[in-house]
Amino acid sequence: TAPQIGLIDLSVATGHHVVSLTDLAVATGVDPAKYHVGIGQDEMSLLAPDEDIVTMAATAAAPIIERHGTSKIRTVLFATESGIDQSKAAGVYVHQLLGLPSGCRVVEMKQACYSATAGLQAALGMVARNPDEQVLLIASDNARYDVDSAAEATQGAGAVAMLIGADPALLAIEPVTGVHTADVDDFWRPNDRSTAVVDGRLSVTAYVDSLLGAWDDYQARGGVAAEEIDRFCLHQPFTRMAAKAFAQLSNHTGVTRDDTVISSTFTYNRRIGNSYTASLYFALASVLDNEADVAGRRIGFFSYGSGSVGELFTAVVQPGYRKALRPGAVTAQLDARVPVDVPEYRRIHAAAELASDVDVKTPHVTAAPFRFAGIVGRARRYERNS
Ligand code: CAA
Repeated sequence: TAPQIGLIDLSVATGHHVVSLTDLAVATGVDPAKYHVGIGQDEMSLLAPDEDIVTMAATAAAPIIERHGTSKIRTVLFATESGIDQSKAAGVYVHQLLGLPSGCRVVEMKQACYSATAGLQAALGMVARNPDEQVLLIASDNARYDVDSAAEATQGAGAVAMLIGADPALLAIEPVTGVHTADVDDFWRPNDRSTAVVDGRLSVTAYVDSLLGAWDDYQARGGVAAEEIDRFCLHQPFTRMAAKAFAQLSNHTGVTRDDTVISSTFTYNRRIGNSYTASLYFALASVLDNEADVAGRRIGFFSYGSGSVGELFTAVVQPGYRKALRPGAVTAQLDARVPVDVPEYRRIHAAAELASDVDVKTPHVTAAPFRFAGIVGRARRYERNS
């Protein structure tokens, strides 16, 4: 029989700062319950001036390299929709920061919040062909919208790094997937902008259409029945979106489930905000870390990238998976974030607009192991914090 393939390890990072959504609500004259209840978010991570998708990605992946070494990693797939260059893959910087060998391919993948899942599917194929090889898959995003827009409270930042290989300690990915692609202008980021353009209402219906379309495709390809899926991680632009979409899926399948199926997936994202490509995998981390024991359970995943591509697939949590976790590591990172008030957050948000046009040396702020040191001759510079 073919070896099982999936997640050997998973590790995360987020921004140095945090903004309270109660503070944002008060500052902008919104009822705080709209954020805490209506969209299901409590805080949002914010990057310091010397952080970006590269530093978060390297910070997320470093513990994986420490634990497993680099010798089997033949590929780095970097998934993002907040790319820092139109040509060079952000993963090449990460490759250097982590000391990966030159005999390793690196590429960046893009399709809004979906591309980490495309990376996962590509990695499964690579490992199936060469079971001795591993793929380092990193999803890293800085979710930025315009201030004073309806989307402002749904910003955030984070990275999830995953080691994909044979005989996985955490999660074996099952072969059947359902896919749904539709050309829709619900959310995108033109090349001249650092914030997304979004039709919020359309994005919500496009997400649900994609979920139901992907589910139907999954069923048509021999997927398991809804009752056989024990937990459901859905993409979380804000956690209430996943809850609302799950209710629609339950109507669609005629199978009503209690809250336990999704409630444990929200813990981290309520505090991080949207992390685009990483968001779905923060939902997974939340289940693995915060439930007592889900060994043998089947988790369903729905990955949604505006524009749009959706994919639905399942995975089974492996026996003994708890030994491969890092207990308390995510909560410790979230608790360690430095709070900023709304005027300071707005100042940091506005400053990020300028960074790519001028030679800059960034102030040294972050306590993370890697930092963005500035731009010299229009090329980005990164360094390891000493
Ligand atoms: N107390 C409790 N609940 C309240 C409330 C209060 N005082 N005031 C409002 N609410 C509720 C509303 O009833 C609503 O809930 P229901 O949908 O269940 O009725 C909820 O809070 C949100 O209120 P609105 O719909 O009025 O919010 P809005 O229009 O101001 O903003 C949004 C919502 C348009 C989604 C906006 O947050 C946005 O544009 N976000 C970015 C786009 C996005 O995340 N889209 C998600 C799908 S696309 C995707 O998933 C890809 C991706 O990552 C971007």
